[in-house]
Amino acid sequence: MPLGHWPTPLEPLARLSIALGGPLISVKRDDTISLGMGGNKVRALEYLMAEALSADADTVLTAGVVQSNSVRQVAAAAAKLGLDCVVAVIRDRVLQVEPGYAQTGNFLLGTLYGATYEDMSWSENVPQRLAAIAERLRRQGLRPYIVPYGCASLTGAIGYVRAAIELAKQFASMTTPVTHVVHACGTGATQAGLVAGFAALDRPVKVIGVDIDADPAGVRRRVGDLLRQLRQVIGIESEVLIAELQIETDYSAGAYGTADQATVAAIRTLARTESLIFDPVYSGKAAAALIELVRQRFFQPEDHVVLLHTGGSPAIYAYQALLRSPEGSTASDDRCASAAWRSRPPYGHS
Ligand SMILES: Cc1ncc(COP(=O)(O)O)c(C=O)c1O
Repeated sequence: MPLGHWPTPLEPLARLSIALGGPLISVKRDDTISLGMGGNKVRALEYLMAEALSADADTVLTAGVVQSNSVRQVAAAAAKLGLDCVVAVIRDRVLQVEPGYAQTGNFLLGTLYGATYEDMSWSENVPQRLAAIAERLRRQGLRPYIVPYGCASLTGAIGYVRAAIELAKQFASMTTPVTHVVHACGTGATQAGLVAGFAALDRPVKVIGVDIDADPAGVRRRVGDLLRQLRQVIGIESEVLIAELQIETDYSAGAYGTADQATVAAIRTLARTESLIFDPVYSGKAAAALIELVRQRFFQPEDHVVLLHTGGSPAIYAYQALLRSPEGSTASDDRCASAAWRSRPPYGHS
């Protein structure tokens, strides 16, 4: 079910590359997907919503935290397709929140898209709770379709298999071969889809997932489970791919939904060098990881690294105090004022 305009742009980040003194860095702008203010879940929803419509659903049902990007994108897709959207909202997963957190950002957008919310607890079993709500909706005469937490299922993961195909086509026109893709990883469907897609195309692109859940074992297990399921559809060597998975675990800021100084500094760096807005929960942690990996000389000078912007910027409005705080301002911000940060590369480089 087409929901976006494809391909999303792949743009060089020349000022960031120069500022970091690292390899060539580009950004894949999945934050610009037109539906619902963008984000990676729209790719999954093209497949999930097709399933919902072929099941003749009139309501989609999903779960997520108050500031869930996934929920916002599900609500937007439902509105676009004329379906109702019911959300089991989890208020007790992220406990340290700012005033306004529960009303603004993604939550505000979800209500504008017409979703209705009922509370559930993070201690509950999400699939069981969704099944119980679906049963109740059926008794009310509705035809619900359950979108899994984070849109993460075999069907959802196909969205990023297709993104790998889209990227491979874009890579063909680049003079410096792409060696790495770096992105935020939570439920695992984005990484599993990309890894499977590049493997199926026989492309030697290393996909680096950045754990944003502070749950390295859980993230690895979820990506692995989805790769095993994808094997049944596209015949990849899932066990080899699982053994080679790269998941960075030092950038989660210690908990889901919280950010640390490195996250905030990375958000400021991307905003000031490239006019890109990353968020404190997901994409900002991926940006922090990329910046630190460049500093640690993890990449070779001839590498070409793609930072996949998975979206999430509406959440910045729920983290205003954090993003204004001087604590997030570190030496990397000071470097913005230096000659290197101000340098202007020749435009149109590839
Ligand atoms: C902005 C953003 N980036 C990254 C992710 C992580 O993607 P995945 O759940 O497929 O691992 C999410 C998931 O909600 C997200 O909202």
